[in-house]
Parts: sequence; C-alpha cells; structure tokens
Amino acid sequence: MKRQVRKAVFPVAGLGTRFLPATKASPKEMLPIVDKPLIQYGVEEAVAAGVETLVFIIGRTKNAIADHFDKAYELEAELEARHKTDLLQVVRGIVPHGVECVYVRQAEALGLGHAVLCARPVVGDEPFAVILADDLIEEDAREGGTMSQMARHFNKYQCSILGVERVPKTETNKYGIVHPLPFANRISNVDGIVEKPKPEDAPSDLAVVGRYILTPRIFDLLTRVQRGAGNEIQLTDGIAALLAEEQVLAYEFSGRRHDCGSKLGYLIATVEYGLRHPELGDRFRDYLHAFGCRFDEPASVGD
Ligand code: G1P
Repeated sequence: MKRQVRKAVFPVAGLGTRFLPATKASPKEMLPIVDKPLIQYGVEEAVAAGVETLVFIIGRTKNAIADHFDKAYELEAELEARHKTDLLQVVRGIVPHGVECVYVRQAEALGLGHAVLCARPVVGDEPFAVILADDLIEEDAREGGTMSQMARHFNKYQCSILGVERVPKTETNKYGIVHPLPFANRISNVDGIVEKPKPEDAPSDLAVVGRYILTPRIFDLLTRVQRGAGNEIQLTDGIAALLAEEQVLAYEFSGRRHDCGSKLGYLIATVEYGLRHPELGDRFRDYLHAFGCRFDEPASVGD
C-alpha cells in the first residue's frame, strides 16, 4: 500500500541568537511577517499538503508556540462580545478542524538531527515531513506550496525527498549541500550530502532549504550519528547515512524563499508580504514610493 505524509515535525527549540533580544522569551518562529508568525505560515503549508498531526519540538521558550496553537477561550469570548467576527474566525482558524498538535520537549539543544529524533515516539513508523519555519517559502500560484509539491512526488516515488534550491557558490557554508545525479525534471538522485561545506569543498550549488520528507529509517540512523559540524547532531549526517541504504531525491521546488533566519532576509520578507497584504498593500506601496522606492523592476538585494 502506498504511504502518505500525515505528520510534520517543526523543530522550534533553537536559541535564535541572531534575533536577540526579540527571541529571549519566545522562539524566532514566533516572529511575525506582517501579522502572522513564521510558524503559522509553515503550519499552513503542511496542512495544505495533507498533514494531520503537527509535532512541535520545543525548547527553553516552550510556552509561546503551544499558546499560539491552543484554544483561547477568553480572547474568543471577548471578540464575540465585541462582534468582531472576522477576527474571531482568524483566531479560530489557526488550527483547522481535524488537525492535532503534539509538543515534545527537547531538553538540550544538541542540533537539528537530535530535534528530529525527539519526534520519534510521535511519528513512529511513518514517513514524515520536517519544516524549518524560518525558511519562509511563498506558495507558487500554479504548483501550490512547497510541501504540497514534495508530497506529490513522495506519493509517486515513496522515498525521502529534500527540498533544494540553487545558492551562490559563496554561500554553500550556510547550508546542507547535495551531490546530485540526474533523475527527472527538477529532481536529482542524491549521491552525497555535506553540512555547510566551504565553497571549494561543496559538491554542487544545490542547497537543502528547510523542507524534508523522510522515511522513518532516519530515526535509527540518527541514534548512531556522532556530533558533526558545530559540535551538533546534524540531520544532514543522518541523511548521508540514509542515502547509503535507500533512495533519496532532491527536488527543486517552485516558490520564492526568504531566509527569515537572517535579519536582512526577514526584513525583505516583511516588505514583500506587506506589499501584497490585502488591507495594507496599497498604502504601504504609496508610503515606500513617497520614501523614494521604485517598483518598476524586481529588487535584486541578496541576503
Ligand atoms: C539547517 C540545516 C542545513 C539546512 C538549513 C536550511 O541549518 O542544518 O543543512 O541547509 O537548515 O535552512 P541552520 O540554518 O539551522 O544552521
């Protein structure tokens, strides 16, 4: 029987040091892009792909995420009393019906591989998605969200799939970089993967950017992974072990990505989502125009 992706893991226990002091008491995934926290964009992408169980791997700042996805009786009663029906719908729709949230505590920040391993008791023996919400990826008008695109390929190929994007050679040291072999249009067979290689050591310019579908075999392999780059248990090293046993594909998704783990990427995303916001977009555009911005060509600022 064909397996489907029904669970998504959201590692949200990182220290978020690049955004201190904003991230002192709440995770970076709670930073808003206009009016919605990053984590909610990630959750919406997962739910659109058919995910029914959201597994949050939480850390030190454990309350904010659980509070955000929890029912807020007092707030709802207040909005109801004030007849703010639109806002009431917004608040009630944060977690759609039939979608379950599970929280797992990662007691020590031992790395992304360790965070994913913490999800094992909830995920069990099923394929699952991993979404790093600080990689915010715009939905493609034709192909849908990135996780939906990946889930479609998973349904066909039934193997692990990594969401990848070409990055400038000078930036390979920020990502897991794959060694690709040709497979199909926009899909490669992963022959190797390295965590944050220097440009001269990088096997390609195809970077893994915060979207994974993994088979449960990864869990056993992660228990054996030694601490790697940055003295952390790296998911990349688990995937390197996985591809020695199983097929792993790299998929060049369609959709514009914003690296909201960096301040510049976060600001760029805020401006672009602000310009497209249904209530604010026009006024924001007028403001930026008056400020001296031109909109006749796409901005080319890299991160
Ligand atoms: C993590 C992964 C890396 C991946 C990146 C995507 O790194 O370890 O392989 O390319 O996410 O954003 P981090 O950005 O957490 O250092």
